Amino acid sequence: MTRTRDKVRIRPDIAAMDAYTPTASLEVFAAQLRRPVEQVIKLDANENPYGPSAAARAALASLDAINIYPDPEARILRSMLADYTGVDASHILVGAGADELIELILQTFIEPGDAIVNTPPTFGMYGFDAPLYFARVENVERRADFSLDVDAIEAAAHATEAKLLFVCSPNNPDGSLIAPETVERLLDLPLVVVLDEAYIEFSGAESLAQRAAASDNLIVLRTFSKWAGLAGLRAGYGIFPAGLMPHLWKIKQPYNLNVAADAAARASLADLPALRANVERIVAQRERLERELAAVPFLAPYPSHSNFVLCRVAGLEAANLKRRLAGEFGILIRHYNTPRLRDHVRISAGTPDQIDALLAALHTIGGNHD
Ligand SMILES: Cc1ncc(COP(=O)(O)O)c(C=O)c1O
Repeated sequence: MTRTRDKVRIRPDIAAMDAYTPTASLEVFAAQLRRPVEQVIKLDANENPYGPSAAARAALASLDAINIYPDPEARILRSMLADYTGVDASHILVGAGADELIELILQTFIEPGDAIVNTPPTFGMYGFDAPLYFARVENVERRADFSLDVDAIEAAAHATEAKLLFVCSPNNPDGSLIAPETVERLLDLPLVVVLDEAYIEFSGAESLAQRAAASDNLIVLRTFSKWAGLAGLRAGYGIFPAGLMPHLWKIKQPYNLNVAADAAARASLADLPALRANVERIVAQRERLERELAAVPFLAPYPSHSNFVLCRVAGLEAANLKRRLAGEFGILIRHYNTPRLRDHVRISAGTPDQIDALLAALHTIGGNHD
């Protein structure tokens, strides 16, 4: 008789790996903290505190034809994205968040044992997804100020013959930008550069979307999760060199962007002034955080071009600060359990009221602490 162990053969690397710990929903946190949802302030996942635009809400409310599969080519949305990015729609592919496109890129390039270069501290999904597609991950740590160590990236790329390099600008978790000249230098490497611009709308910097479309080896990833407040619907897109597009079309899931995400994304692009006003409000709170967190004795914020601020925590355990803000005040912030960032926290820019509450809580904790 065949034993169960022989029938169910999980990949050993997956059986042995640690799970990724994503953020939870507001309801789940509220239940954990035994507070009503309205008394929880979620500043841990760089979400948009204003939510979707009124037009996107209306599009969702009047959504019809949910029984019909979406257009696999998302033609209407892609043509609107062409106007938004200044790139021909033939270079654009949409997906269930930028997250899905990271996987699609790995599927397109990686054969077992191929290497990718990752540049931590950065968004966790590049390093998390790569081994699932059998890639070796060569980590080239960012410098103390979170800038890229380009010489080390070049050396690692050549030494490992990496096929992909993942970089993020503004970088999550610190909010620093990569200069376009640096990207140009990286494009001389014999690999494809994946530039994640999930937060570009908060930065005032130019997107390299058009550069990607004109290139052979630059991919730019963008999302509706942050600036457009659609994180819960999962809508992202990539701008790809022409040579890659036929291959991506072959392998993508046919209905990867669901009809609700499609409708809300289209409505968002038709309601830009309202969403840009929200982006300005968020940037104003980020600037306030940069200023006012510097006045909190145990925090040292880094400059940010995004919708969050990373702080070094001194004289107090960062994990404990996170716990106290959640337990005593219902305020959620992000802490990283990694050697480099163990004494850091990341705080998303919320509404003015949310930031008032956060700053008051930090001063109370500071008062208790001194
Ligand atoms: C840098 C970066 N890229 C991509 C994502 C995921 O984007 P999406 O919600 O479109 O999957 C995030 C989410 O936090 C992020 O920080």
